[in-house]
Amino acid sequence: MRVLVVGGAGYIGSHTARLLASQGHEPVIFDNLRTGHASVSRLLGLPFIHEDLASGPERLAQVLSDQKIDAVMHFAAFALVEESVHHPAKYYSNNLVATFNLLEAMRQSGVNRFIFSSTCATYGDPIATPMDENHPQSPVNPYGRSKLMVERMLKDYSSAYGLRFASLRYFNAAGSSPDGLLGEQHDPETHLIPLCLLALLGRRNKITIFGTDYDTPDGTCIRDYIHVDDLAEAHILALEKITERSEPLILNLGSEHGYSVREVITSVERVTGQKAPIVEGARRPGDPPSLVASAGLARAVLKWRPRYRVLDEIVATAYIWFKKGGRYDDSLS
Ligand code: UFG
Repeated sequence: MRVLVVGGAGYIGSHTARLLASQGHEPVIFDNLRTGHASVSRLLGLPFIHEDLASGPERLAQVLSDQKIDAVMHFAAFALVEESVHHPAKYYSNNLVATFNLLEAMRQSGVNRFIFSSTCATYGDPIATPMDENHPQSPVNPYGRSKLMVERMLKDYSSAYGLRFASLRYFNAAGSSPDGLLGEQHDPETHLIPLCLLALLGRRNKITIFGTDYDTPDGTCIRDYIHVDDLAEAHILALEKITERSEPLILNLGSEHGYSVREVITSVERVTGQKAPIVEGARRPGDPPSLVASAGLARAVLKWRPRYRVLDEIVATAYIWFKKGGRYDDSLS
């Protein structure tokens, strides 16, 4: 299948584009390079379209028809919870309005398969844990609300226009491709595992734990970390499933194991064999205390089997990337 990978120069999109290609699909990377990396398409040897979803449905419809696209995977979004609290307009514009442009382009050009990067942030504070797909959706930050609005839009497009879609609600994406070709590079970096590794590699002074007074066993937030290649695999299985049958797929993607911030830091210490420079700090705005997936539906419907079962294995792949430098060389592209 010829798949437009929107946001394919970013972290999860690049790993998925690579897996698509290795499984015989034809991914076309589409990215505005605001947060993506120009060198990804070169490293992967894949076609690249440097465009922005903000250019509007007509231009995007042209891309879809010129490229003879069969399906779209949409990874392009801003995804920082705290930033979304301070700059909601940025999130509604990029995550909601831009996605509307893309869906309209698909409608105009008759492309009707869509895989959407949704998030556990659409649930908000857990009333039950682990969370399954029927957990109430009551997001506690603008990022989660922007993603929930797209989920609602997708259902309406499906009922009215026959769009086939999967909304994949990721928990915390982590790790890197084990050969170190692709990895996680955000500017600025805000995610826990990269920050810990950067500190242990001497590229940061310290790691601040955001909140030690949560109602959790060790007082720090609990998250469910899932390897980026396992997420990529689920996208391809979801694409196959919506091709086979028309019902919408709404699935959690997580490992079903929760790790506290302190446990993550301990895992990074184990993998690197070094002691982390920790400071205890205040809570970060918008952080729910605990997010752990029940992912039984994805396992049953997609026959999805995450390969990375233990946090140390995930951290070890991230360590490979950061030891290599943890940055793309975009100057060559
Ligand atoms: N944390 C720290 N110190 C840091 C960075 C993070 O204590 O320096 C904590 C956070 O408070 C949180 C946990 O580590 O409890 C994980 O934080 P990340 O920033 O790595 O990830 P988030 O849980 O904030 O974000 C992820 C995804 C989002 C998604 C969100 C759901 O990146 O896209 O989960 O809440 F929306």
